[in-house]
Amino acid sequence: MSTAPLIALDQILFVLVAGLWGAAGGFALAAARQPGDAGTARRTSLAAAALCAAAIVMTGLRVLVTILLAQVGWWFVAEKVTLALPLVVLPGLATGVVSLPRLLRGAPSALAAFPPLVAAYGAVAGIACGVIVSYPVTVSDAVAVLTLFTGASAITWRILWRGRAVNRWQVAGVTVLLVAFVWAVTAGWSGGHLHDGHGTSAAGTPVDRLIGPRAEDARRFTLTAKAATVRLPSGQSLDAWSFNGQVPGPVLRVRQGDLVEVTLRNELADQGVTIHWHGYDVPSGEDGVPGVTQDAVRPGGSHTYRFRADDAGTYWYHSHQNSSVAVARGLFGLLVVDSAGASATPPAGDHTVALHTFGGRVTTSLDGAAPTDLLATSSHRPGTPVRLRVVNTDTLPRTVGLAGVPFTVAAVDGGDVPGATELTGRRIRLAAGGRYDLAFTMPDGPVLLSADGRPGLLVDSGGAPATAQPPPASGPLLDITTYGSPAPVPGRADRRITWVLDRTLAMVDGVPKLGYTVNGKAWPHIPTPVVREGETIRITVVNRSGDTHPMHPHGHHVQVLSRNGVPANGLRMDTFDVEPGEVWEVVLVADNPGLWMSHCHDLAHAVQGMEFHLAYENITTPFDVGGPAENHPA
Ligand code: C2O
Ligand code: CU
Repeated sequence: MSTAPLIALDQILFVLVAGLWGAAGGFALAAARQPGDAGTARRTSLAAAALCAAAIVMTGLRVLVTILLAQVGWWFVAEKVTLALPLVVLPGLATGVVSLPRLLRGAPSALAAFPPLVAAYGAVAGIACGVIVSYPVTVSDAVAVLTLFTGASAITWRILWRGRAVNRWQVAGVTVLLVAFVWAVTAGWSGGHLHDGHGTSAAGTPVDRLIGPRAEDARRFTLTAKAATVRLPSGQSLDAWSFNGQVPGPVLRVRQGDLVEVTLRNELADQGVTIHWHGYDVPSGEDGVPGVTQDAVRPGGSHTYRFRADDAGTYWYHSHQNSSVAVARGLFGLLVVDSAGASATPPAGDHTVALHTFGGRVTTSLDGAAPTDLLATSSHRPGTPVRLRVVNTDTLPRTVGLAGVPFTVAAVDGGDVPGATELTGRRIRLAAGGRYDLAFTMPDGPVLLSADGRPGLLVDSGGAPATAQPPPASGPLLDITTYGSPAPVPGRADRRITWVLDRTLAMVDGVPKLGYTVNGKAWPHIPTPVVREGETIRITVVNRSGDTHPMHPHGHHVQVLSRNGVPANGLRMDTFDVEPGEVWEVVLVADNPGLWMSHCHDLAHAVQGMEFHLAYENITTPFDVGGPAENHPA
């Protein structure tokens, strides 16, 4: 069984185990109070025995599932082995030894009722564990869970042996105190605020000095953020935010080696804007993250970005202020860097395809044209080389398919794939924020690009009326991490970092809630790894949650070393989809000093906590989250 179903099974067992122990404890208690006549008493006692036995078996099953999960990795079971399981297994054993024989003999007592009741509290504490504890387990987590458990057990002990009627007010009072205590401990989880590089007083190089060169002969663009309306061909009309009145914004197309200078102006009524160059490893001061590399550009303001286009490939840009809202509403566009060796004008078959959801429908924008929720079309003579630069600007992964022609995945996240082999009818999962360049030679018949099985773009050979459109590709999914030929990867690791992704109770915007966490904490309380220039960093990414997390470190690409223990091809990626239960090992070379945001590119997750920094030693920032500029990167 793979990991995700095991995690789901474990969660079902959690609840079953708690329910069974609750019932077992309840019946054992009722039996101890000797209800009615001898027959009823005996029946109650036997029912309690049966429930105890069932609870013991189910607890055993939980132990088994935990053992299976432990084979995948300690990250998946640490809190179960150290906290959740002992709290139910130990009283469960006591039930087997002390309570079961007594209940079976029809001799119930307070002594027989106590162990299953305690097991029930342990099982409930186990559920609490699942909600509040992630990896790594901290002392405060343990204290919170143990407090709830011992508190409930102590009260039960008192009631059973003192034989006292329960004073509801006392119980209510103790409960409130316990909850307050747990709350206090929970608040303690929040930890520090970002890292010490923030604030003007910190010593070091300020990030806003790490900027691109000025040059007379720069390629200049102006992007003006303003309100616009998106009209979908199917009839919907949506209020959007645009660059230059276009949604998506203009395709910025430059040549490798060009100096790029983009002036951002903000003409939105009430919304700050920045531009982040997604996947482009620009100098840190040009990275466009409000509160980290700049202040958000307020309405009426402007900001100029400069960088040298050293890497060819397909990239995109988007606002990073309130990005979860801004990108969805249209503040994004594509960036294509043609390789220095390529012809001055891009070949006719070279297209950009942005996939974005507007009004609940996945749309296609071909070469920066207005998005369509119907079929986009393009025509090329048979024999023409075609390259579709597919960009997923949504928050969810898309399964991309190409039917009607053998094709290669020529590039991933901007970088060429070495040894890309021909594929037929295959589908590939494209992470939110990721890019695939699909290349083929135009055949005689039509070619269909689909997203999640829905036709998106039809490429035909023009002239004659389009021949029958092929059905969307439905072949097996390609594992991109084993595609092509293996690329060399750095052998050593100077530093190891683990990101355990989870969904647990955490401080999100000052309120404890179910957030998306990294190592048990939510932004801005996730500890910042501080690295040194030149280091090779091995990152293990573990997804304990039930959601997919497209992880995106800024300013760097990673190379994939392995996925779920299977050696990978060393593919260069800047946005990689870590599915539920998955474990990825990637390597990042620290060659771009700065302060770098890293986050889940399901921006709805980022805004609920799943974002943090990667910092270089001695780099500081005068900017901070919040403040007068209302910097809000997610
Ligand atoms: Cu497209 Cu911080 O990301
Ligand atoms: Cu996520």
